[in-house]
Amino acid sequence: MNASILLLPGDGIGPEVTAAAVAVLQRVAERLDHRFTFSEGLIGGAALRTGQTPLPGDTLAASRSVDAILLGAVGDPSFDGRPPGQRPESALLQLRSALGLYANLRPAIAWPGLEGSGPLKPEVLAGTDLLVVRELTGGLYYGEPRGVSSDGQSAVNTLRYSVEEIRRVTHRAFALARRRRKKLVSVDKANVLEVSRLWRQTVTTVGSEYPDVTLTHEYVDAAAMKLVLMPSSFDVLLTENLFGDILSDEAGAVCGSLGLLPSASLGEGPGLFEPVHGSAPALAGLNVANPIGAIMSAAMLLEYGLGLREEAASVQRAVEAALSSGFRAEDISTEEHPSTGTTEFTQAVVDRI
Ligand code: IPM
Ligand code: MN
Repeated sequence: MNASILLLPGDGIGPEVTAAAVAVLQRVAERLDHRFTFSEGLIGGAALRTGQTPLPGDTLAASRSVDAILLGAVGDPSFDGRPPGQRPESALLQLRSALGLYANLRPAIAWPGLEGSGPLKPEVLAGTDLLVVRELTGGLYYGEPRGVSSDGQSAVNTLRYSVEEIRRVTHRAFALARRRRKKLVSVDKANVLEVSRLWRQTVTTVGSEYPDVTLTHEYVDAAAMKLVLMPSSFDVLLTENLFGDILSDEAGAVCGSLGLLPSASLGEGPGLFEPVHGSAPALAGLNVANPIGAIMSAAMLLEYGLGLREEAASVQRAVEAALSSGFRAEDISTEEHPSTGTTEFTQAVVDRI
């Protein structure tokens, strides 16, 4: 296969983990006879530093013309004082919206050998293999009106969802559940919010088209609790934008570290693949970042962006093999398995593909 991939390394540890993901993709191409063409663009603080906006026009144009986009991270504390629309993070929000990336997939698994590196008892975490499907282009993140009142004494954001916005992400989630253990939990706050009631109603209607998938509903507070008490009980968790933001970080921490979590953001055009961890400026340049989130994002790019499922599986097997050989990034290192550094861990994965 020939495929074009746009790299947006971004800020902080973004460039290091993007390099790790590219090394893995290059190895896959070499071993399995594909041709991937990489191009690179500026985004976030990296774009701001060159005097451009967080999402420069040519970055957006390039992202529309490739087969898939691989992003490192955006976020840079030196721009923290700016209004929301001029911060590095706004690039991500604009890109999601401009490309119509309404379905965000965030898998969280208990990696073999890492059951003890998280905050939970290993026997509670064992067997965890869940997928958060987060609606990504609606809800509070984008609702209008929004803003601070002219006297600065109040502020407003709007939570709004249309039936169509709920329907399309719900179809994606059910289709994914069909390929997994066929259990879908829809997370809302229907005991309080009208939007959540519409969410629950719409998910239920769509669910009747997937009788082979078991649908249940959970309030977000209860879901947050269950995620720490019995994470292995979940298969697919479907939820709206803000709840999904919060629950996916929780899922990452539960599985050992946010550094392990990959993501795919999908719409009808090219998908965006990025680790969930963010720019972690304090870790940048120290060769300590965990590349697993980015490497598994590359695996998701292979599977969901290019339809190369077997190739994606070979990347996951290589990560498992590197872990079982004792390689560890800093955040998941232990006394028994000390940190081997970002580049060494990546090489260990590459060697096992
Ligand atoms: C994420 C991030 C973003 C979000 C930020 C950086 C805008 O936290 O991808 O989860 O809130 O969606
Ligand atoms: Mn987040």
